[in-house]
Formats: sequence, C-alpha cells, structure tokens
Amino acid sequence: MEPPEGNGDIEFEPGPESQPVPESQPGPETGHLRVGKGRPFRDGERVLLVDRKGRHNLVRLKSGRSYQSHSGVIAHDLLIGSPEGSEVLALTKDADRRNGARYLALRPTLADVVLGMPRGAQVIYPKDLGAILIAADIYPGARVLESGVGSGALSMTLLRAGAEVTGYEIREDFARGAQANVAAFTSSGVADGDGGPDVSTRAHLAYDVQIRDVYSGIDGAYDRVVLDLPEPWHVVPHAEEALVPGGIFCAYLPSINQTAEVREALARSAFGLAETFETLRRTWHIEGRSVRPDLRMVGHTGFITTARLLGERPHRRRDEQAEPFGE
Ligand SMILES: C[S@@+](CC[C@H](N)C(=O)[O-])C[C@H]1O[C@@H](n2cnc3c(N)ncnc32)[C@H](O)[C@@H]1O
Repeated sequence: MEPPEGNGDIEFEPGPESQPVPESQPGPETGHLRVGKGRPFRDGERVLLVDRKGRHNLVRLKSGRSYQSHSGVIAHDLLIGSPEGSEVLALTKDADRRNGARYLALRPTLADVVLGMPRGAQVIYPKDLGAILIAADIYPGARVLESGVGSGALSMTLLRAGAEVTGYEIREDFARGAQANVAAFTSSGVADGDGGPDVSTRAHLAYDVQIRDVYSGIDGAYDRVVLDLPEPWHVVPHAEEALVPGGIFCAYLPSINQTAEVREALARSAFGLAETFETLRRTWHIEGRSVRPDLRMVGHTGFITTARLLGERPHRRRDEQAEPFGE
C-alpha cells in the first residue's frame, strides 16, 4: 500500500486573489474571515477545504448540511455562494472564535479528487497518472480501451485529457462505483477546470463502461490500450488485434515479476519499442535559508510499461536474421 501523497505546506497569508471582509458585509459572525475573488461555489459542487497545516479535505456542498471537523463546524450554506479563495472559520460549540480553525476554500484539482473520492479498488496515484498520459500518448479524441476501471481514477484522467474511453471491468460493483465517481467528476466542473458545461458533457458522453473480462477479448478498434489489472499478458494478443498500427499498449503493475511477465508476452508479439519505468516523487522543503529534500517521499508505487504495435506477429522472430525493433 502506497503512502499518501504529501500535500505540501499552504500558508494562509492573504493572497492577491483574496480580500479582507469589509465591516458592512457578511463577516466574522457568519464565519467568513476573508472573501476571495473567484467564481462563487454552487450547491452540489465539490470544494477543497485546506486547513492551516495544509491538510486537504474534500467536501461536496449540499444546502442545509454542514462540514464537521475536530475543530468545529462549517455550514455548507456559508460556502455556497462564497467566491473561491474565501477563508472561513469553523465554529466550535462554545462559539468562541478563538477556538475555531481557519479553512481556505478552493476548487479541488484532479489530484485532490483522486485522493479524496470514494474508492473500492486501489487507485493509481497522481504521480503515475500524469506519467501514463505521456507514456501512452493520450490526446483529445484518442480511442482508449481501459481495463480494469476500478475506482475510476485513471478514467477521469484519460477523459480530462480528451480521450474517448471504453472501460472493461469484471466487477459490477466497481463498474458502478467508477461510473458514479466519473459522473460526479464531470458534473463538478473539475473535469474541465472551469465548470463550463461543454467539456464536462463531452467527457461524460465519452465514457462507456462494460462489465466484461478483458482476458477474453476486445471488440472494436482502438488507438490505445491502457491496463491496470493483475495479469495484462493475457491481453497482449487481444491488443494486437484491437489496436491500430502504431497504437500503444500501456500496462501499470505494482511488481517487477508481473512486469517481467508482460515484457515476455510483448517480446513474443507484434509489439516493439517496449519500455518500462517508474516515477519517484520527492518534494522539497524551502523556507528562507532552510532548503532540503522533505524527509518523506512517494517512492515506488508501480511500474509503467509501454510498447507500440509495429506490424505482424513475430513467430518469425526467433529464427529471423534481423533483430526486432527496440530489443
Ligand atoms: C487496481 S484496480 C484499477 C484501478 C483503476 N486504475 C483506478 O485508477 O481507479 C484493478 C481492477 O481491475 C479489475 N479486473 C481484474 N481483472 C479483470 C479482468 N480480467 N477484466 C476486467 N477487469 C478486471 C478489478 O476488478 C479491479 O477493479
């Protein structure tokens, strides 16, 4: 199990986008400490509440509800209509403002959503999600076969990059969970970063999840096959049939033994230019003259393997003169 990603330190100094609340406006008595200048939050939207220690809390706003933390309560109605970048105070039972914690209210990033959303299956962590987009060369309109979809973290990332995603998931409960997570994501404004309906609607329409065993085959033609499941070597022959020439096969695996097995299957196939890598993410502490790597880092999470469909199946490879590409 991977450690959670570090959130970094977020200082609560007044930024250029935030302003003190004028006396005449809703202020301390309602819990506002500072009113931001961003787009106001809407009912039903997700908001990220960041406390003074930089801890991130993902909250879906619903009128009439409240967010409860160990250091007080914030009414959702306080946040609904508040501009992004506002700072609010969690009110404690004794209503003594000195005891309440301060929270900065922002729209969550995709990484915040992935780390904060409900999970059935283990999600791929953001550092690897970003790397997969480049390694698999995901582009707007790319037809991607993804399997298994798990909690939908990779699906959201592919959709946000503009891909059309067909997901094969063997477990119905996970398929439903992923669809719910993706629907919440695409309707929340996080999908396109601005809440505009066009991209969100397109991303929503571009997602089709089927309850299927990908080891049994793939129907249709795809530009990319992206896998996060235990035995992707069973999918290599199906990907050979389903991918367009030059298409990319990408598998994410936690162990090097699994990775070696998928590489063997790729070496026996029409794929070439195979490559395996991992990403390590180390943040730095930078404060005045104190500059050093943070003590904790997100180290090994998984191996990413890619290969390109080059042509015919090389049962010929073992006896041919020419070496296959990339080996
Ligand atoms: C680690 S999870 C995927 C997590 C996902 N990438 C995410 O970011 O949320 C692996 C998923 O593969 C599914 N799975 C396993 N074998 C499968 C198969 N043969 N066909 C389709 N899905 C499969 C599992 O049910 C599980 O949901």
